[in-house]
Amino acid sequence: MDIQDERTRLLDADGSEESDVRSEQDIYLDKVWNGKLYLAAFVSVLGPLSFGFVLGYSSPAIPDLMASPDPRLRLDPNQASWFGSIVTIGAAVGGLLGGWLVERIGRKLTLMFCSLPFVFGFAVIASAQNLWMLYAGRALTGLASGVTSLVVPVYISEMAHQRVRGTVGSCVQLMVVTGICGAYVFGVFLPWRWLAVCGSLPPTLLVVGMCFMPETPRYLLSRGRRREAEEALRFLRGPEAPVQWECARIEEACDQQGAGFRVSDLREAGVYKPLAIGVLLMFFQQATGINAIMFYAENIFEDAHFDNRALGTVIVGLTQVFFTGIAAVIMDRAGRKVLLCISGVAMAISAAVFGVFFHLTEGGHSGVESKVEGSLGVEPQVDLAWLALASMGVFIAGFALGWGPIPWLVMSEIFPSRVRGFASAVCVLTNWGNAFLITKFFQNLLDLLTKAGTFWLFASMCAINVVFTVVFVPETKGKTLEQIQDKFRGTRAL
Ligand code: BGC
Repeated sequence: MDIQDERTRLLDADGSEESDVRSEQDIYLDKVWNGKLYLAAFVSVLGPLSFGFVLGYSSPAIPDLMASPDPRLRLDPNQASWFGSIVTIGAAVGGLLGGWLVERIGRKLTLMFCSLPFVFGFAVIASAQNLWMLYAGRALTGLASGVTSLVVPVYISEMAHQRVRGTVGSCVQLMVVTGICGAYVFGVFLPWRWLAVCGSLPPTLLVVGMCFMPETPRYLLSRGRRREAEEALRFLRGPEAPVQWECARIEEACDQQGAGFRVSDLREAGVYKPLAIGVLLMFFQQATGINAIMFYAENIFEDAHFDNRALGTVIVGLTQVFFTGIAAVIMDRAGRKVLLCISGVAMAISAAVFGVFFHLTEGGHSGVESKVEGSLGVEPQVDLAWLALASMGVFIAGFALGWGPIPWLVMSEIFPSRVRGFASAVCVLTNWGNAFLITKFFQNLLDLLTKAGTFWLFASMCAINVVFTVVFVPETKGKTLEQIQDKFRGTRAL
């Protein structure tokens, strides 16, 4: 029995208005089995796991390399800062490459492709004989991270359905933070070369696993490959679901939207509105200062007399994993907007408290040296250091609950298929470009504004985030991708 017949049967049997509420969509989704959808999502998030590992890698590797007995590989502070930040430049370029690849060769092959620069980059680092090999390896793994941060959210949102899209989509960030934490934990035991070898395992598994996973039905239908799209849907929705029904809905949307991106599309509300929202979400994510605070975490731990730096970073990593996990579980019930607001408020307050902490302890200094004064016996700082520790905890937990996962999730939900590659590339470029600026010029910002001023700047950005969320960010919970795009085009109420 097809979906329309079943709906008519339900209406006849009940006869009441209430049955009307059970839309065709609900009837369809009740027949869906999600096992293989989760499997495909699990394989694809080995990509974000690898990219998290790349981000976390520098934290344990830099101290090792700065103390290297081989002078060709010994990093000075300036080289160490490039070793850390070159990844973000590679990733910004990777975002552009990814945007082009997803349209040319499809989502699945792009995902398989990004394993190459991951594995090759880690191999170059593991066998490095000089500084340039270290930089090249970091740039390559950065490039792979950029491609991954574009293609995986797109892959997941195009194959998931609205009942689970938030949770499955949030697993992208969950795996990023798991990768970061994994690099910190393994970094405690492994020297930098072996750590690089370890980093190449998830992308190797990714390429093997993806051989058995389907291309997304939306990509296939946008290329007119209906039979393959039905097969992909049958894989993803299980044997009970009448997948022709979903295929027809997606096909209708593809026909309405037309194929291929043209520059003139930017004049349409259905394109420029989501693009502006996506770009601003990425800008604001970085403007919270998350990367600066993660970078600064080790100093905070030292101020608080936590002598074990490595343990400190592991605690930061675990906090992120825990709260990102909570966000993933509640995403489809709580909705994106509520979580973004809670997250923004938590970060605004904690960054402001951070500023107060520095204002009280800094005594006019702007550099990292104030911790030395702290340990030289200016006693009140010892107690206040716990304030810094607490606000760092709240900040990181707040980020993990909203501004960590949601910009990536919303980016993958709001664009019409034909511009998804281009528009996501612009978002990824904005994100990584800003991540580079913040990590590279954080010290200059401290010199210019003092530490207190810098953290108050971050706090004000977080407050602006909240206003931006309330006014502009649409709620995408429980909507199909097509309904979300209709809303931007103004053709149907959301
Ligand atoms: C951000 C990265 C950040 C990471 C940390 C990601 O969502 O894009 O810049 O380093 O989260 O959790």
